[in-house]
Amino acid sequence: MMTVSKATLALTLTSLLMTSQTLAKTVAVDSPDGELRFSVSDDAAMVQYQVDFQGKTVIDASNLGMMFKDNHGLTEGFRISDSKTVAVKQDWQQPWGERKTVTDHHNELLLTLSHERDTVNEYKLRIRVFDDGVGFRYEVGKQAGLDSVAIINELTEFNLGQQAATDGTAYWIPSRGWNRYEYVYNTSSIKDVDRAHTPFTMKMANGVHISIHEAALIDYAGMSLDQRRPGTFKADLAPWSDGILVKTTTDFKTPWRTIQISDKATGLLNSDLILNLNEPNKLGDVSWVNPGKYIGIWWGMHVKENTWGSGDTHGATTSEVKRYMDFAAKYGFDGVLVEGWNVGWDGNWFFNGDVFSFTEPYPDFDIEQIKAHSKKTGVKLIGHHETSGNVTNYRNQMQDAFDLYADIGVEQVKTGYVADGGNIKRVDENGVVYKEWHDGQFMVGEYLYNIEQAAKRNISINTHEPVKDTGLRRTYPNWIAREGARGQEFNAWGSPPNPPEHTAILPFTRMLAGPMDFTPGIFDMGFNGLDKDSDRPQTTLAKQLALYVVLYSPIQMAADLPRNYQAKLDAFQFIRDVPTDWQESVALAGEIGDYVVFARQQRDGEEWFVGGLSDEQARAFTLDLDFLAKDTRYIAEIYRDGDKAHWETNPYEMVIEQKPVTSTETLTLNMAASGGFAIRFKVAQ
Ligand code: NOJ
Ligand code: CA
Repeated sequence: MMTVSKATLALTLTSLLMTSQTLAKTVAVDSPDGELRFSVSDDAAMVQYQVDFQGKTVIDASNLGMMFKDNHGLTEGFRISDSKTVAVKQDWQQPWGERKTVTDHHNELLLTLSHERDTVNEYKLRIRVFDDGVGFRYEVGKQAGLDSVAIINELTEFNLGQQAATDGTAYWIPSRGWNRYEYVYNTSSIKDVDRAHTPFTMKMANGVHISIHEAALIDYAGMSLDQRRPGTFKADLAPWSDGILVKTTTDFKTPWRTIQISDKATGLLNSDLILNLNEPNKLGDVSWVNPGKYIGIWWGMHVKENTWGSGDTHGATTSEVKRYMDFAAKYGFDGVLVEGWNVGWDGNWFFNGDVFSFTEPYPDFDIEQIKAHSKKTGVKLIGHHETSGNVTNYRNQMQDAFDLYADIGVEQVKTGYVADGGNIKRVDENGVVYKEWHDGQFMVGEYLYNIEQAAKRNISINTHEPVKDTGLRRTYPNWIAREGARGQEFNAWGSPPNPPEHTAILPFTRMLAGPMDFTPGIFDMGFNGLDKDSDRPQTTLAKQLALYVVLYSPIQMAADLPRNYQAKLDAFQFIRDVPTDWQESVALAGEIGDYVVFARQQRDGEEWFVGGLSDEQARAFTLDLDFLAKDTRYIAEIYRDGDKAHWETNPYEMVIEQKPVTSTETLTLNMAASGGFAIRFKVAQ
């Protein structure tokens, strides 16, 4: 149900007489709960906005605008010439997700910005203010003299103020680096940030939490943030190889610039702002998009037991795929990911972008036999397309590649774009080679083209080395997951591996963008020795289980080798039981980089699952069970760190116990250093 009312809007319009005799205006719009206010003023040279939360300024006067190569952009001399408001409250449903029903409740303000000289173009600024944050975007319509546009500078600023930047803390990874988004998070004073990727999350001295990001990144360059002066960040768009930031034609809309704001850390985790700012599902019936769990011929390569390339230790052999499919069938997994099946991996595959075939298998990978075995076991083959950054080679083969997989019955393909940042290879029709960024406009289009081509064959995509997520899974529900941060693989060879706090930072940063294919569930931590400095998961076993609930993804991998699960079948039971699609999700508690606890209810079912994890500190957590249904008796199946568990010295000690509970009770859970807990709540019979 959608309700639209103009009367409920808190809209303020003040007029001041300026010396130039023009009327300067401030127009404001409030959130439905009245806690947030977004105001736009035209009394300075540039049109500026400001954001106030609970009566205090969180974003001080900040410039809006953009510069074009050959036309007058939105720069100085613009005034607010018109404003319209609308209030929206509507529910919509996700085909899969962290909750079934999402509420979109916001007040919208649409401003027209006109230049003092009427020969110059007009711009619209659309603003939506929710209880959990704000979004605004530029809309540039068709008009005389403005057809094709080359954006050379986006002038949008986020001015937190110098003092706030000195006193506040930022959790961030650098942008425009060679390793794309795959960095250990920095925790620093805000003023010490240089150029950062979004979601860019901060905790201010007064406890207000802010995360700046973007929504609906389509046909535009990805935005990172450049701190130009202490406290003032500017939109920094990843350029094309020729230096232009965005090449487009009118009408066009920019992605939404988003600011999530809450007085507590969990407020960020419980926000649906990014999804709400994306367009509804464009694909129609998506009943073919299936969340689920998978295993894979994968970790063996990362721990160097196997190779992607051909030879004695080749991982993707027919017999190995059959063995994995049998294991998956026995333990209830939906799919088997197979990497290294196709010709092109030999030598240093990092640099094999030109030679990958996406249709020709190695001789020891028999497609027909595997197709038959998949049919027999009911376990799907999960496809894999590694491009090593040569996206033209991939595009040239993409139709055939997807057709082949569709014929085998593949429903999901993992794609890969391993190449240094700024080193994606684009070859034009004349054979000229260009080098592009993973988050530049060219690649934003390339990733989406891949999604659309896959959708035509009812295939879902899990993108590795992606452009960051901006909520496009709402519009394209077959974009089922992405990587886009340091995942489990870094624990095999990352030197350093992910530190204990990594997964206590991810929920508040990377995960605000959308689901991540982190690939949890490593049970044997000692593949490089259990030395504290070796590359290995710096977690306890219980924390590996907690990741299935904490790090949301509709597809979750059980990443370890089958023999390591067979050795710990009791712990493995939790991975077998945990769903990947949810009716509801609630972040119950957490502080950025310290700990986090999530409760999630099974989609269309009664069971609840809770996961909690800690950084390098051991801590006790009191879990209030009031999220459970009233008057229902549950059995809690608890997987928790043993008394002497510690990631460094004793990672495996875990207690598995069952307790009858109801919603009026609490459970006290001790998390070890880099430990955690995972709980299944079954309805008692
Ligand atoms: C990097 C991906 O993140 C990893 O999962 C994959 O195994 C390799 N690329 C090879 O494609
Ligand atoms: Ca990767």
